[in-house]
This record gives sequence, structure tokens and C-alpha cells, in this order.
Amino acid sequence: MSTNTPLFQEIKIGPLTASNRIALNAMECNDADNHGNPTDLTYERYKKAFRGGAGLVLMEAISVVDESRGRLNQLIGTPENQPALTELINTLRKENDKTILLIQLTHSGELSHSDFSRKVCVKPLPGYGGDLLTEEEVEEIIDKFVISAKVAYDAGADGVDVKLCHGYLGSQFCRPYNDRKWKYGGPFENRMRFAYEIYERIDKEINDPNFLVGSKISVWEGFPGGMGTAGPDTPVLDFEEIQKMCQGLEERGASYIIQSAGSPSITLALTQPEKSMPDYGYLHFTFQKVVRDALKPETVVIGSAYSIYSDGRIKFLATEKEKTTFEYWANKNISDGYVDMVALGRQSLADSELPIKMLEGRADEINWCSLCDNCLEFLIRQRPVACATYNKDYAKALVEMRREEGKLREKRT
Ligand SMILES: Cc1cc2nc3c(=O)[nH]c(=O)nc-3n(C[C@H](O)[C@H](O)[C@H](O)COP(=O)(O)O)c2cc1C
Repeated sequence: MSTNTPLFQEIKIGPLTASNRIALNAMECNDADNHGNPTDLTYERYKKAFRGGAGLVLMEAISVVDESRGRLNQLIGTPENQPALTELINTLRKENDKTILLIQLTHSGELSHSDFSRKVCVKPLPGYGGDLLTEEEVEEIIDKFVISAKVAYDAGADGVDVKLCHGYLGSQFCRPYNDRKWKYGGPFENRMRFAYEIYERIDKEINDPNFLVGSKISVWEGFPGGMGTAGPDTPVLDFEEIQKMCQGLEERGASYIIQSAGSPSITLALTQPEKSMPDYGYLHFTFQKVVRDALKPETVVIGSAYSIYSDGRIKFLATEKEKTTFEYWANKNISDGYVDMVALGRQSLADSELPIKMLEGRADEINWCSLCDNCLEFLIRQRPVACATYNKDYAKALVEMRREEGKLREKRT
């Protein structure tokens, strides 16, 4: 593996510099304590990630409120959590002070878990829904995003990612499906109001050009009325709005956009290409180009869904094996100008030290993601998440979890 490649060139993100083009994508691991503060498990995985030398680490979806969360043990970003967050960030900087550290801010909206949270929605999707938000409640949620951004700033993060993807609240506003007649729905300008106001308020209230703001967005959610569709009742792809939206975010200070796709609780294989149909991964290259084409050259585009390529162990038909690897596609897409950085999700749980292993010529030591998706199974079952393929404790936990689930199912039948 050569490191004299586009993947290992520096890149500027706003006024900051990432030392290489590899980003570790946001991966919520549901291992916070009962107050939403990091535990030893959280420390362990982020310390390892920072030792791994990625140019950028996007810290997982941290909830801006306690009351509406998707995960039982989700990290929370309210002022009460600031001391614990500061301590975590200080520790990570000691491991490696070069890696750019962003925190993803989210509100789960209709994906909040009704067992322990209040489900709220913009306009109920069939099978989802929750309490319909009022305009006053939306204003309060915008305040919470701004407060959490300040918490992240004061805790020492390099920036925040205002989450607009994967079906969480931010994306629920943006979709054409949100044709509700209110301040935050209907025409494009109204649907963007939530995201744009958060950006404008962060810019005004933090007012530090060194503090990065950006968003991870689903370029196409893949169901009628989802993001990237031509209207509220059609799944047909239409990128015009998505490009306009990216430009609107850029005008309001976005120094990067992370491309993603799908809404995992609905269109999982789109967000996380599966080994049984890896070719879905190629769609993301198009989505990356769509975002890249919309933005100024200095705004960084980070592509998602690169775990599927690994070391070529996943079989893609009609392609030479050496042209199916992470290294091949990451370098090619950067060279071709489709993307500036590439992000690893599941691979970062399998081995967050991939960048340093590549850099030091130890690529043969990389634990490549097997795309088993056991990590996702932990998440869905509200357990702490890790890679059960390479972590023996979690391999045991997986067996135990499945045994317990089996017993529960037996009881119910
Ligand atoms: C266990 C798990 C947790 C995730 N947590 C987040 C998250 O907190 N925020 C987010 O934007 N995406 C999250 N994702 C999606 C990933 O960041 C990424 O977009 C997706 O897995 C596709 O990339 P990959 O093919 O490299 O895994 C998660 C995915 C998994 C499997």
C-alpha cells in the first residue's frame, strides 16, 4: 500500500487542516451512563480512534435534549454534561492533538424510543409519528441545538455537525414529505428554516471562525417524499433541492458537508451497503458528485459508506478484485474530484487504527470489517455497541443477547 497517494494528502477544512483524507464517521455506541455522560467504554473507543490518526473524527450523534432520544444510553450535550465532555476531549487531545474533532448534534424526533422518550414529529410518516410539534416547540428545539453547540465549543471540540440525515428530526423538516402548512413546512424555504436558523444562530452566538459547522445529509432517502425526491409522494430522484440546500448551508457557514443516503429504519441497505448487494455502494459515489458539484471548491465534501470496499474481500461482479478495495476507490474518487475526504463507519468499529496502520506500512495488520452488521444488532437492541468479530467480550455478549432474545420470544408465543 502506498501512502504517496491522494488519501494521505493534507486538506484544509475552513481554517483547520486535516492531516489526511480519512474521516471516522459518526457511530453511536449507546454506552453513556444514566446522565448521558461518557463511560470507560466511551473513553476506550475514542482513545483508540484518536491513536489511529484519522484526519477527522466525527463524534457520534449526541442528543441536544434528554427527553426525546433514540438510544437508552445515548451521549447528551446539555450544559449539565459539559464538564464530562470537556474531560473526554482533553483526554483525546493528549492521545493526538492533530485529529480534527467534530461532535454530531441530533434530536431523534419520530425516531425517539417510546419506551423511555417522547416521540415527536414534523408530519407523521405511516408507521412512525408521535406528538405533532408546534412552532413554539420547534423554536425551543432550535435553542437546544444552539446551546449544545456552545457546550461543544466550550468543551473544546473543533466544531459541530448539525445532523440532517438518516430520518432523525433535522431531516424530517427538509423532506418534500413535510408539506404541512406551517412555518417549517411546505415550500423549500420553510422546510429549510429549521436548519438555516440553527446555522445562523450558531454563527452569531459563537462567532469564532475557527469553530467549524457542517452537516451530514441524506442525498436520497429512497422512499416517497424522502430527502432528494421530486415531491411529497414520489420516490423519484431529484437533486435540485439537495444542491440548493447544500448551497444554503454553505452560505450560512458550512465548511464541509458529509454525504450520506437512506434512512436506516426504512432504507437500511442504502445507508449501509450490505455484502449481499454491495453494488448499492456505488450510488454513494453519484451522491458525492451531486454534493461536490453544488459547492465552492473550498467547501470540503466527505463521502460516506466506504466500509463495503475493505481489502477486496467483498465480491463485486464484473470488476477486477484489485479495483474493489477501499484504497482503490478512496484514491480514485478523490482524484476524480467526486469527493475530498472519505468516511468509514462500520470499519471504524472493526479497526479505528486503519489510518496509522496504512501510514506505517502495516496494512496487513488491519482488521477489515466483515460487514456482518452485528454492531447494528447491538444498537437496535439498545446494548452497548462494538465489533463482535474482533472483540471477544462482545462476541460473548452477542451470543448472550441472542439467547435472551430467544427466551423472550419463546415466552411471548
Ligand atoms: C452501530 C452504528 C451506529 C451509527 N451511528 C451513527 C451516528 O451516530 N450518526 C450518523 O450520522 N450515522 C451513524 N451511523 C451510520 C454510519 O455513520 C455510516 O453512515 C454508515 O454506517 C455507512 O458507512 P459504512 O458503510 O462505512 O459503515 C451508524 C451506523 C452503525 C452501524
